[in-house]
Amino acid sequence: MADRASSLKIGIVGYGHLGQFLIEKIQKEGPEVGLQLAYVWNRNPEKLKDSVPKDLILNDISDFTHRDANVIVEVCHPQIVKDFGAKFLSHAHFLVGSPSALSEPQLEQELRTAAKHHGRTLYIPSGALWGGQDIQRMNDNGTLKALSIRMSKHPSCFRLTGGLLTDWTEGEGRCVLFHGSVAELCPIAPNNVNTMAAAAITASKLGFHGVTGEIVSDTALADYHIVEVEATGPDGFTVKTVRKNPSKLGAVTGNATYNSFWSSLLVCRGHGGTVYLC
Ligand SMILES: NC(=O)c1ccc[n+]([C@@H]2O[C@H](COP(=O)([O-])OP(=O)(O)OC[C@H]3O[C@@H](n4cnc5c(N)ncnc54)[C@H](O)[C@@H]3O)[C@@H](O)[C@H]2O)c1
Repeated sequence: MADRASSLKIGIVGYGHLGQFLIEKIQKEGPEVGLQLAYVWNRNPEKLKDSVPKDLILNDISDFTHRDANVIVEVCHPQIVKDFGAKFLSHAHFLVGSPSALSEPQLEQELRTAAKHHGRTLYIPSGALWGGQDIQRMNDNGTLKALSIRMSKHPSCFRLTGGLLTDWTEGEGRCVLFHGSVAELCPIAPNNVNTMAAAAITASKLGFHGVTGEIVSDTALADYHIVEVEATGPDGFTVKTVRKNPSKLGAVTGNATYNSFWSSLLVCRGHGGTVYLC
């Protein structure tokens, strides 16, 4: 069991599916792995009162500056990343649960600069991305020529803007909803393509405009999501992976992604002023 004095204090911003999962895990398993809850903020603080001790509830998000946290975890909405990301990095390491926000080039630059300036780490959870470390290595040594990611889900699992999926019927089968750059896709599907955003941040030399994303609606996928990644290197080098992630019907997040997030949080112990896939 880790010493409480040396355990990392974690501020959680957002109390949806992921936030609730992480808070429960920290409350149950935190002492064993050296994590403790510093505070929790939710847009509606009423939702916290039965599960979070009163003194750990933050009523106003701006008050995070008066609390002590080593790591701030955003698990609510890209807008919060935009409004508070750089401020969070001026106080703590920042695990960004909604990396699709970084498809705005100005915000990505702002957060990279803030991390470097404050010597704190901007952590990108790998989520449902398989092989992220290998992609990062190819990016860093200049051999990554192309990267494409296809996500296929039951239509009830998509939350899309712009009228891309207004109507569907059970049994209609497979339909490609979008194929293009991850930069174009993020604003259309901000809640569905965080894995692609993580890939685009990792493959920084290709970036959001250079990484290709495709989303596919398939009524046959009632029990799982599929994430396919294809990385291309020089002289015909290619790697293709297919990840089947069991999920509840209508769920944005596949079951294995929750544990993936927990594993990511365990890595957040400070990697300098960098952007770090975890
Ligand atoms: N990185 C990944 O691999 C990955 C995986 C799953 C989900 N996510 C992202 O993490 C975030 C949380 O996911 P979830 O499954 O817990 O979602 P959720 O919908 O269950 O919870 C979101 C929470 O944020 C709140 N919220 C929504 N909009 C808000 C806003 N504008 N300002 C403040 N609060 C707001 C909601 O009230 C809710 O409490 C989402 O942005 C989601 O897209 C990322």
